[in-house]
Amino acid sequence: MMIRFSMDIRLNHLLLSLLVFIYSLRAVSGQSWDGVIITDADYDSLQAFKRELVDPKGFLRGWNASSYAACSGGWAGIKCAQGQVIVIQLPWKSLGGRISEKVGQLQSLRKLSLHDNAISGPIPASLGFLPSLRGVQLFNNRLSGSIPPSLGRCPLLQTLDLSNNLLSGGIPGSLANSTKLFRLNLSFNSITGTIPVELTRAPSLIILDLQHNNLSGPLPPSVGNLKWLQRLDLSYNTIDGQIPASFDGLQNLSVVNLKGNRLSGPIPETLGNISTLIFLDLSLNDLSDGIPSSLDELINLSFLNVSYNNLSGPVSTHLKEKFNSSSFIGNVQLCGFKGSTPCPALAPSQLVPSTSPEITRSHHRHRGLSTKDAILIAAGALLLVLLVLCCILLCCLVSKRAATSRAKEGQVPRAEKGGGSRTEVEAAATAGEAGGKLVHFEGPITFTADDLLCATAEIMGKSTYGTVYKATLEDGGHVAVKRLREKITRGQKEFEAEVNLLGKVRHPNLIALRTYYLGPKGEKLLVFDYMPRGSLATFLHARGPDTTIDWRTRMRIMKGVTRGIMHLHHVENLIHGNLTSTNVLLDEGGEAKISDYALSRLMTPAAGSTVVAAAAALGYRAPELSKLKKANTKTDVYSLGVIFLELLTGKSPGEAMNGSGDLPQWVASIVKEEWTNEVFDVELMKELPAIGDELLNTLKLALHCVDPSPSARPEAQQILQQLEEIRTEGEPGAGSTSGPPPPGPSGDGGSAE
Ligand SMILES: *[C@@H]1O[C@H](CO)[C@@H](O)[C@H](O)[C@H]1NC(C)=O
Ligand SMILES: *[C@@H]1O[C@H](CO)[C@@H](O)[C@H](O)[C@H]1NC(C)=O
Ligand SMILES: *[C@@H]1O[C@H](CO)[C@@H](O)[C@H](O)[C@H]1NC(C)=O
Ligand SMILES: *[C@@H]1O[C@H](CO)[C@@H](O)[C@H](O)[C@H]1NC(C)=O
Ligand SMILES: *[C@@H]1O[C@H](CO)[C@@H](O)[C@H](O)[C@H]1NC(C)=O
Ligand SMILES: *[C@@H]1O[C@H](CO)[C@@H](O)[C@H](O)[C@H]1NC(C)=O
Ligand SMILES: *[C@@H]1O[C@H](CO)[C@@H](O)[C@H](O)[C@H]1NC(C)=O
Ligand SMILES: *[C@@H]1O[C@H](CO)[C@@H](O)[C@H](O)[C@H]1NC(C)=O
Ligand SMILES: *[C@@H]1O[C@H](CO)[C@@H](O)[C@H](O)[C@H]1NC(C)=O
Ligand SMILES: *[C@@H]1O[C@H](CO)[C@@H](O)[C@H](O)[C@H]1NC(C)=O
Repeated sequence: MMIRFSMDIRLNHLLLSLLVFIYSLRAVSGQSWDGVIITDADYDSLQAFKRELVDPKGFLRGWNASSYAACSGGWAGIKCAQGQVIVIQLPWKSLGGRISEKVGQLQSLRKLSLHDNAISGPIPASLGFLPSLRGVQLFNNRLSGSIPPSLGRCPLLQTLDLSNNLLSGGIPGSLANSTKLFRLNLSFNSITGTIPVELTRAPSLIILDLQHNNLSGPLPPSVGNLKWLQRLDLSYNTIDGQIPASFDGLQNLSVVNLKGNRLSGPIPETLGNISTLIFLDLSLNDLSDGIPSSLDELINLSFLNVSYNNLSGPVSTHLKEKFNSSSFIGNVQLCGFKGSTPCPALAPSQLVPSTSPEITRSHHRHRGLSTKDAILIAAGALLLVLLVLCCILLCCLVSKRAATSRAKEGQVPRAEKGGGSRTEVEAAATAGEAGGKLVHFEGPITFTADDLLCATAEIMGKSTYGTVYKATLEDGGHVAVKRLREKITRGQKEFEAEVNLLGKVRHPNLIALRTYYLGPKGEKLLVFDYMPRGSLATFLHARGPDTTIDWRTRMRIMKGVTRGIMHLHHVENLIHGNLTSTNVLLDEGGEAKISDYALSRLMTPAAGSTVVAAAAALGYRAPELSKLKKANTKTDVYSLGVIFLELLTGKSPGEAMNGSGDLPQWVASIVKEEWTNEVFDVELMKELPAIGDELLNTLKLALHCVDPSPSARPEAQQILQQLEEIRTEGEPGAGSTSGPPPPGPSGDGGSAE
């Protein structure tokens, strides 16, 4: 299969370079394996595994009595972690014999790859006892017997490829219990029975290939539930009945091959609703009636074959122009295409019932809107509840008495504010007699100290530095107000010197400091632009189950954050010092804006170490900071790398990583251990064909940023340059693979390695 072949080759290449890179990292730290000797149980299991295989070329000769070697790279095809086997990978080794049931004792096994050998016998049912199993690649062997239903008990199973064996029996419906399964290839076997209805409840399936088997019975109507399915190949079976009208639930489908079955009845009009369709082969069936005109709507359809059915009526002008006669032959009553009988003069319009495209589209729109409405209403209701619960008066926080006594002198004449040029910052300051002072920097905000102090405010968050409020001003506008913790801020003079510096910083990816207020008793308020969409952390980790974030959006955020940091480092000569995904905010347009930068300059040195400790707890602290205590550009780059990893994996660095340390360590360990795409957010897997190498290159860059050695980390400038190279703005995906080419049993058996 072309796509699989080319993609895997590219992935292989990238993964290889990534691995070389990771190993070189490890070599620096003088460590090529984790030094743990294989457990007795795994050792026994591997010995049994070897005993039951036939190894004519002696690839397993190195699996000798020395258990010390098993997990240290001495045993070919074995990878371990903490003394437990996690990968068995022995493709193309001419292995015969059987797969031992003892393989089920390898409790940490994630991947079993034995494809392209000559192994016979059954698939061990004991694989179902492996809780971590992700990938099973046993294609191109001589395995027989049926598919063990127990495989459905592997909760993390993602890929199951048993194609091109001698398997018989039915497809166990329990496979749908593996809720992460996205690639199921059982093609080229002798599997019988019907397609189990349960399988259509497997929510995560993206690829389903059952071609060249002996499946019979109808297609379950619930097949339309597989909404993420991109590729469906059921060709060359004996499936009968009609193509269910609900087929159009497959809204991500690009390749459909139903060739060589016994399907009858009409081609459902609803096929025209699957706008993503690229390849449609319905040839060699018993389909009757006309070709629905809705197929004309499939703008991306580049392969169509309806030949050798019992279709009748005219071929539309559109289809006739796009496809030649070999797409239509073998339908005696089909007319009007090149080389066929011309259609009767009276257009038999009754043969081709059609739906106007307008109606179809408006249906779509209506559906989309109502879902959106529901979400908006829910979000609105939530917001209201929050408002009611959290609404407090900022007045009550700042000394009420002081506020009223200063109501007059605190007022800043509106004319004095704003109007500052972009380059020259104008500070409009009003000093109160008792020391209350409001200073506006350049920018559009216009309010008085009184306005600010008596604005209604709700708490948005708390940090080491203080509490952030969303304040609603008289005119209904919002600002974010940060009330700094008085005990840890610098004295007034130093504070003002620093804050005036920060007030000059202006960049599209940095939250602008608009105003500060110094209260008579030492209260210090900073006023920033309010970002209604909240932080990246919330956006990424606290969204509803139905909200997905596509790769383009994630990439845009990465670039935005990098630009902001680059400006801080190279133009302003400032260090952020506390970069986390909670400090990256999103504006209405989804542009990333960094907040809290360089705030440590307003704080006492003691506060600085508290912040470093907090960053460590959150998982953003560069390792050297535990000794160094002082942030620099390289520690910022480290935090930036962690944010990249967050966007790539969908995981929060605060999340426990199953004992694999922090997020960077976890990612590195996964990448080292096996070559699946498992580190990436499952959501992104859906885009994999188009963005595979963008993901890998970004992952590589992110790992570079979190390199334990500060000097090895790139500068912000280089990071941005690399991101630009990985994905040019506005250009969708990697052009070469964005549309899968037509499938076919090309027999390259492209490896998944
Ligand atoms: C399924 O396996 C067969 C045989 O190994 C292969 O030709 C085909 O390309 C695979 N299908 C997909 C979608 O990868
Ligand atoms: C086991 O194999 C390793 C290399 O594969 C070899 O160095 C070692 O001498 C062998 N040990 C025994 C006991 O055969
Ligand atoms: C799969 O899940 C269903 C329902 O949750 C359960 O009845 C069935 O026993 C499971 N099958 C296996 C093999 O675990
Ligand atoms: C399965 O189908 C093939 C042809 O596709 C046929 O040769 C074979 O006899 C069938 N096997 C069974 C068990 O029905
Ligand atoms: C995939 O399906 C989902 C749900 O039906 C839909 O929201 C999404 O846009 C589809 N993706 C593509 C690439 O069509
Ligand atoms: C799908 O297409 C059919 C006929 O072409 C139409 O009646 C139906 O409303 C469409 N469904 C959706 C959800 O657009
Ligand atoms: C059609 O293909 C183009 C180019 O690959 C793509 O941008 C577009 O989204 C596709 N349209 C649909 C409806 O899938
Ligand atoms: C072909 O379709 C016509 C209706 O269009 C039907 O009358 C006829 O029986 C069908 N022939 C076969 C062999 O299915
Ligand atoms: C029809 O088009 C296909 C490609 O879509 C091509 O392989 C085939 O040779 C063409 N046949 C004729 C008769 O033009
Ligand atoms: C359509 O399928 C028929 C039957 O397999 C074949 O002869 C014909 O060449 C195919 N046409 C195209 C365009 O693939």
